[in-house]
Amino acid sequence: MQAAALYRSSIGKKAVMAVTGLIWIGYVVLHMYGNLKAFQGAEYFNHYAEGLRDIGAPIFGHLHLLTIARLVLIPALLLHVWSAYSLYLAARTARPMRYDKWRAVQANYAALSMRWGGVALLIFILFHLAQLTWGVRGFHSDFVRGDAYHNLIGAFQFWPVTLLYLVGVVALGLHLYHGTWSMFRTLGGGTGQWDSVTRALAWLLAIVVPVGFAAVPLAVQFGFLS
Ligand code: HEM
Repeated sequence: MQAAALYRSSIGKKAVMAVTGLIWIGYVVLHMYGNLKAFQGAEYFNHYAEGLRDIGAPIFGHLHLLTIARLVLIPALLLHVWSAYSLYLAARTARPMRYDKWRAVQANYAALSMRWGGVALLIFILFHLAQLTWGVRGFHSDFVRGDAYHNLIGAFQFWPVTLLYLVGVVALGLHLYHGTWSMFRTLGGGTGQWDSVTRALAWLLAIVVPVGFAAVPLAVQFGFLS
């Protein structure tokens, strides 16, 4: 089957969702781990944030590898969202009439939480970029370009922002749980003896990633980081 025809099929779209989801899983794990460097102080954290721009040196020049990473992450996110939307449209037009009731309830819950959780995550990511990366006026009261630590502390001193991030990372945890599990199914694992292994991995990601992300906003909010 040609690539375009494969993509048009629902299995093709699911495969695209699995691969692009895996790329983002890798990113969020690294990002969460990187954020924890805030506990090592302003200088260390800013050095790390600046170092990200020179990652891969001396083979790669300033911003080169970061730009390549962005050129992978952005299309991956767009493809992920687009595939989810077209799978949703396809499911809406071809809904099976008879279904075991319990399975239907379970499947609907997962599909609904993935769909609306996914939309919430997308909004959260845009808010997050506007606030901490782009420094859009109105999203951060005192954004200083190049001082990632200062921007972080300033943002989370305002409790509604901390609360919003907590909601965002809980949505991420739920998305990671269902997403990882269905990714394994699509890629051929997650059945038979592997079922419990993939479920455990999905649980692990769904707990470790949100807890790691939540640590910094909570530490600022309760005065452990300033
Ligand atoms: C408490 C949670 C989070 C904190 C404290 C945090 C912090 C930050 C900071 C400080 C930056 C800017 C780094 C810089 O420009 O030097 C950043 C960038 C970014 N964050 Fe987060 N983040 C969090 C959660 C997330 C989540 C859950 C996602 C995605 C699902 C995410 C995606 C991104 C992306 C895509 C960038 C832009 C990276 C780039 O292209 O330079 N973040 N984050």
